[in-house]
Amino acid sequence: MTEDILTRARTLSGYDDVSAVRQAQDHDWVLDQVPGAPSTVADLGCGTGALLDAALARWPGIVRTVGVDGNDGRVRRAGARLAGRAELLTADLLGLPPLEDRFDAVFMTSVLHWLHPDENRAFAWISAHLAPGGTFVLTTHHPVTDADGYGGEDVVAREALSALGYGDSLAGVVPMGVRARPAPTVRALLARHFTVTASEERHVPVRAESAARYRDFHASTFGTYFSRLVPDGRQEDFFSAVGRAAARRTAAHGEVYGITVRVWRATPLT
Ligand SMILES: C[S@@+](CC[C@H](N)C(=O)[O-])C[C@H]1O[C@@H](n2cnc3c(N)ncnc32)[C@H](O)[C@@H]1O
Repeated sequence: MTEDILTRARTLSGYDDVSAVRQAQDHDWVLDQVPGAPSTVADLGCGTGALLDAALARWPGIVRTVGVDGNDGRVRRAGARLAGRAELLTADLLGLPPLEDRFDAVFMTSVLHWLHPDENRAFAWISAHLAPGGTFVLTTHHPVTDADGYGGEDVVAREALSALGYGDSLAGVVPMGVRARPAPTVRALLARHFTVTASEERHVPVRAESAARYRDFHASTFGTYFSRLVPDGRQEDFFSAVGRAAARRTAAHGEVYGITVRVWRATPLT
């Protein structure tokens, strides 16, 4: 088990097994935002390619599909899933080179908090690479934050740290409650490059049916982001404590935590 959970966290592997806990629930909602049938699509932070797969199934007339992700293992997994139907690139969304291409639709789902505080760089690139009349669809997460600014996965990580005797400070990482900016701030960042044409939110419970499943979800989604706060020899203990914290919170509240997810539809400024 040691090897499995640590490998999962270090490589962000196993995402397809656990993304139904949160991210995969949004895919139809995201595709529904695109008016008409796009011919060219790009997914930034495409993960293992599930959204592009769904886009290709929904719009058989797509002629060009591009996926970009910073994690090589995920790009390889996307390549296996999409088998020649998409061009896939391992690259940092904060340093994308200019392309000749202009896309009818660009997606970026469950990614923005990882780009904090440099989101503007990605937005500038996207705006420059949308075709006239093209659509940018992104989802953002907005956890309820406490008085210290912690929210979402922060509360699970703090509980796990505390259970292991490390206190509950997240000093050393930027809390998710900070990374996931409030919706008005996201709107202001978007407004530098886009006109927001639609936006809606829904409140979703994050839950997993067992401590082990939540442990795996955390490792595949957050990797070593929080676990770095404990020494190397306690890594496995940390992930187990995350699973136990999630199970305890679910027993007490019916969910690990609730989160507001917002979808945004935007077109480039003319
Ligand atoms: C939570 S996953 C979301 C994956 C997919 N969009 C989905 O909705 O299932 C976040 C993805 O963003 C990628 N990512 C985060 N920061 C990135 C960066 N700076 N450059 C490229 N990819 C990044 C991660 O590798 C990961 O695959």
